[in-house]
Amino acid sequence: MIKFENNLQFAKSLDHSDVLKGYRQQFFIPKIAGKKFIYFSGNSLGLQPKQAKKFIDQELKDWSNLGVDGHENASRPWLFHHKFSKKILGEIVGAKPAEVVAMNQLTINLHLMMVSFYKPTSERYKILTEAGAFSSDQYAFESQIKFHGLNPEETLIELMPRSGEFTLRTEDILNAIAEHGRELAIIILGGVQYYTGQFFDVKKITDAGHESGAIVGFDLAHAVGNVELYLHKHQVDFAVWCSYKYLNSGPGGIAGAFIHEKHFKREGLQRFAGWWGHDEKERFQMKKGFKPIPTADGWQVSNVPIFQSAAHLAALEIFHQAGMKALRKKSILLTGYLEYLLKEMDPHEHQFIIITPLRPEARGCQLSVFLKQNGKRIFNSLTRKGISLDWREPNVIRLAPVPLYNTFEEVFRFAEIFKLVLKLSPDR
Ligand SMILES: Cc1ncc(COP(=O)(O)O)c(C=O)c1O
Repeated sequence: MIKFENNLQFAKSLDHSDVLKGYRQQFFIPKIAGKKFIYFSGNSLGLQPKQAKKFIDQELKDWSNLGVDGHENASRPWLFHHKFSKKILGEIVGAKPAEVVAMNQLTINLHLMMVSFYKPTSERYKILTEAGAFSSDQYAFESQIKFHGLNPEETLIELMPRSGEFTLRTEDILNAIAEHGRELAIIILGGVQYYTGQFFDVKKITDAGHESGAIVGFDLAHAVGNVELYLHKHQVDFAVWCSYKYLNSGPGGIAGAFIHEKHFKREGLQRFAGWWGHDEKERFQMKKGFKPIPTADGWQVSNVPIFQSAAHLAALEIFHQAGMKALRKKSILLTGYLEYLLKEMDPHEHQFIIITPLRPEARGCQLSVFLKQNGKRIFNSLTRKGISLDWREPNVIRLAPVPLYNTFEEVFRFAEIFKLVLKLSPDR
């Protein structure tokens, strides 16, 4: 365990011994008034890998030179473009390549998974999730429930933290699963909760869900590329994610899905089908009768958006080089340093409270900070001083130092600026 120090020299020494320090050079760091941002918004939109252009240019070149023949003869043939990401996605989420596929957008994938895995019966029909799930997930759950002719009020169980607490205790989640056991059709939680930054205990929740007879899925928007995941080993039924946050694959980047292999050949499994999920050998025969590819690829509906997929491959290559283990190791240190500096400046929580769990195993890189007063003013002031961070109503700023491109020096400099801004805050 490193003993942190509150000085620039120390922050620099951590950067000096950081084995991943070279990766920052592989990204464009946005600037404000000619100065690089301290970019802590990787939980919203990850930065552009410099090699994204090369990957997209290659596709433009193949398109201009080959036209339709690019489907077969492009340097990465477009017909199979989704296959080039499988190995690395598998490494990132802890899955076999056959269990993952890059496709669509996150919410679409959530709907596709729910079509296959949310099968309410008169006894078992409830969905268990966290209160305050991301809005798109809430709308997906509500509309899926209505699609089955059920009432969301009676069907959705939303778990709240105990009074006076900000995050859910694992024991409370497990107790709720046991309590509602026989009525539960499906459990869907965020892997890392978008607002609080809490990393749920995937294994314990999945085991408990299965024991009660429910299907267990995760929205990994804030977990993928942020924390280590073992979806296959932990027997998770399905998961979905987006790639524009920690996976740095660009705005509107192609999303992903995981389906555990145990479901590939399950009898009676329904899905909303399209030609890209159909048996590849027969895809162009245009025959009646959908024959799904017996892997996650069988959930594809439409052909691959090549430019998004190209940017995705550029970004994934960096993850492969850096490795999730090393990234997570640095991330724990980087966020730990941020936590230490925040506590140094306001040890008695007069001005703010870190609502993210303090145990590193229960969080990713993000710290969510609840500002007791003048929240919006403090946020605006930080932004003007060159910090890129985000604001969530009613009073929370989210700070996400990302191990691929953020430095310990940036964390230190942020803390100095934050201290100054808090001091200047007039209602103090
Ligand atoms: C947790 C979570 N779920 C769902 C979404 C929506 O994603 P999309 O627009 O890609 O469907 C987001 C977007 O930020 C998110 O953070």
